[in-house]
Amino acid sequence: MSIVPPPDLKRLAADLETLSSYRDPDAPGWTRPVFSAVDRRAREWVRTRMSEAGLEVTVDTAGNLLGLLRGTSGEPGALLTGSHTDTVMGGGRFDGIVGVLGAIEVVRCLRAAGISLGHDLVVTDFLGEEPNDFGLSCVGSRAMAGALDEAHLEVRDSRGRSLGEALAAGGGDPARLREARWSPGSVHCYVELHIEQGPRLEETGTPIGVVTGIVGIHRLLARLERRPDHAGTTPMEQRRDALDGAAETVLAIERLARGGVATAGRLEIKPAALNVVPAEAELWAEARSDDEEWLVAFKESIEEELGAVAKRRRLATSLDWRSREPPVPVTDWVADAVHRATRSLRLTALSMPSGAGHDASYMARLGPMGMIFVPSRGGRSHCPEEWTDLAHIGQGVAALAETLCLVDRSSGGTDGGAG
Ligand code: HGY
Ligand code: MN
Ligand code: MN
Repeated sequence: MSIVPPPDLKRLAADLETLSSYRDPDAPGWTRPVFSAVDRRAREWVRTRMSEAGLEVTVDTAGNLLGLLRGTSGEPGALLTGSHTDTVMGGGRFDGIVGVLGAIEVVRCLRAAGISLGHDLVVTDFLGEEPNDFGLSCVGSRAMAGALDEAHLEVRDSRGRSLGEALAAGGGDPARLREARWSPGSVHCYVELHIEQGPRLEETGTPIGVVTGIVGIHRLLARLERRPDHAGTTPMEQRRDALDGAAETVLAIERLARGGVATAGRLEIKPAALNVVPAEAELWAEARSDDEEWLVAFKESIEEELGAVAKRRRLATSLDWRSREPPVPVTDWVADAVHRATRSLRLTALSMPSGAGHDASYMARLGPMGMIFVPSRGGRSHCPEEWTDLAHIGQGVAALAETLCLVDRSSGGTDGGAG
């Protein structure tokens, strides 16, 4: 027997449609990069929807949108739920926004049914979950978890702009960044609804995924450089071709990825002229695994490979690990609460790891954390083909609502989340 009435699918569909209409018209798919004008306009609209749902909305100094629904018991520790509304370049229309709009819909259902929670509930639209031009993901949730510091604000993109400047333009206040921090233990529980972005739920015909852990991600920026040369008159054995060096490095990344996953997602060269031997190459890549030791071994191997390429090709190289996030387990009693919630809704559920990164990884530093997945058609995501059926989103929102009620009543694991 469920506690909360079902979500209004028409209202939810309209919200998904409106929010996904905020996209860069000159870019492929659904493109709404962090710090862009279209991202700012979209988050202004989200702020309005939060207020209309009865939430008291504030923007913290990291640019996160926080919508508060006051609890009745004055119990310490807030319940948090939410996700992000920025997208990758050429992305889809469900990654992140399902968790933000789903959370707002949960608030509407709770209030319409006169259900009040003991703990304060905070709905979050985190700033900049997707990796940005500074090589950093989860900007807003890092800041809340105290994992974004002044050194990060100094990092510059290829145009020389610092993250601090971008944050100021994106609605944050870098000089007061520390005020966005929540203290560890201040979160009673964080639960995030998200699309799976993979094929498991669809392949098994399961409507709900109960996440067991979030993958660790290491991201790097490799620079290879020497000198430009004439493409016609320079003999092959005299060249110091930065792009050929980068190409060897890309293939090494692919070879070393066995046992985990690794991707060279971006390559920029200079002077990028057809008849000039490339003088400089900037290569962005990442490796992911739920095994910390594998990630460390990959890091050491790729550093060796790049050193060998540098020597063989007489290139100057540097390797900057922009972020190295460990795998993060989900809190057992929160996952149990999600399973109980799905049972009360007579939905089947599958326990599964997340190969995608999420803000939840940082929220886990503040308190117990759990995630709920809904199926992705064909397992596709980070592309215009990204799709999740409205019925599945509705089931995910219902599971989120039930889970929040259960963990609200739980004393945090001692009762196994029994509530
Ligand atoms: O990259 C990720 O895994 C997430 O979608 N940001
Ligand atoms: Mn994403
Ligand atoms: Mn996401």
